[in-house]
Amino acid sequence: MKHLIDPTDLSKEEIDQIVALAEDIIAHRERYQGSMAHKKLATLFYEPSTRTRLSFTAAMMELGGNVLGFSNPQNSSVSKGETVQDTVRVVGCFADIIAMRHPIEGAPLVATEVSRVPIINAGDGSHSHPTQTLTDLLTIKRELGHIDGITIGFCGDLRFGRTVHSLIKALSRYQDIKVVLIAPDELRLPDYIKQDVCDKMGVQYRETNSLDEAIPELDVLYMTRVQKERFLDEDEFDRVKDSFVLDARRMALAKQKMAVLHPLPRVNEILTEVDDDPRAAYFRQVENGKFVRMALIVSLMEWKNDPEHGMPEHEAPIHNPALHCTNPKCICNNEKHEPLFRNAENGITRCWYCDSKVR
Ligand code: NCD
Repeated sequence: MKHLIDPTDLSKEEIDQIVALAEDIIAHRERYQGSMAHKKLATLFYEPSTRTRLSFTAAMMELGGNVLGFSNPQNSSVSKGETVQDTVRVVGCFADIIAMRHPIEGAPLVATEVSRVPIINAGDGSHSHPTQTLTDLLTIKRELGHIDGITIGFCGDLRFGRTVHSLIKALSRYQDIKVVLIAPDELRLPDYIKQDVCDKMGVQYRETNSLDEAIPELDVLYMTRVQKERFLDEDEFDRVKDSFVLDARRMALAKQKMAVLHPLPRVNEILTEVDDDPRAAYFRQVENGKFVRMALIVSLMEWKNDPEHGMPEHEAPIHNPALHCTNPKCICNNEKHEPLFRNAENGITRCWYCDSKVR
C-alpha cells in the first residue's frame, strides 16, 4: 500500500503524475465530481491548522466523498492517553484514507506500521510536510511553466520550517535546481538536508543572510514564517522574529517573472503592499493546494491495491540499544517505540523516525 509520509515516498514519475492529474482536474472539474462517492477521508489533526485541514476537507467534498475526524485532540480519546497506532487502527475501521497532522516527529510514520488504509502526513513537527510540497510544485509549474532549471530562494525560518525541508527534498530530483538559503544564523537549514539531500543529490546551494543580495537572481522566492511554537527559548524567538521582510522596495529588485510563494499563515514577513503585485502567487498557491490534494486522494485510492505503486525500498533499520535519539519531539521519546537508526551521509547515524543526528 502507498502512504505519503515523506516526499521521497513518491517517485519523481508519481509526483509528475499527481501534478498532471491536478492540472487535468483544474481544466475539467466536472469529470471528477463523483469519483470518491461513498468514500470517507479521516482528518486527524493533533496540531492547529486552517488551510491544510480545510483544503483536505474541500478536496474530498469536491470529489463527492465524506469527511470525519477531529481538529482538537482534546475532544478525542487521545486525551485519555491513546497511542497514535491505536487511534489509527480504530479510525481505519471507519475511513478509507487518513490525513494526519501531529506535533511529534515520526508520528505518521509509526501510524503506517499498523494502518490498513493509506496515511497522508499533513505535517509532523518540524520534520516534513509532503502535501504542501505537492502544492508548491504545482504552483511553480503553473506560475513559471516548468520546474527544471529554476533558482529558488528560501527565506526566513529554514531550521524549523517543515515545508522547506520537504520541498528541497522533492526538488533535488529535478534537473539543474539552484537553491539560495536566506536566513539568520539561528535559523539555518538543518545539516541533514544539506548533507543527505543537497550534497548527495548534487543540488547547488549557497547560504546568505541578505535578501537584498539574493533576490535579483531568483525565479522563485519561498517566504516562511518564523515558527514561534517550535522555539524552546522565547528570547531567541524575539531576536529573530522580524529578520526578513518582503516589501515593495525589495520586489523592485526582483526579476519581472519571479513567483513569490508562502505556505501561509504569514505573520509579518510579507507586507500587504506586495499582495497586488502579479508575482505574488501565495493565494493562488492555496487554491492549488485543494486541487493537488484531490489528485493525491484519487491516486492513493487507485494505487491502494496496486503492487506497482508500493512504498520505496529502504535499507533495514539499525537496532542498537547503545544509541539514543536526543530529539525530545521524536515519537520514540514520546510513545513506546523501539529506537531505530539509519546510516546517513558522511558516516553519520540518524534517527529512523525524525532524522536527528545521533551522538
Ligand atoms: C505551514 C505548516 O503548517 O507547516 N502551513 C501550512 O501547512 N500551510 C507553514 C507554517 O505553519 O508556517
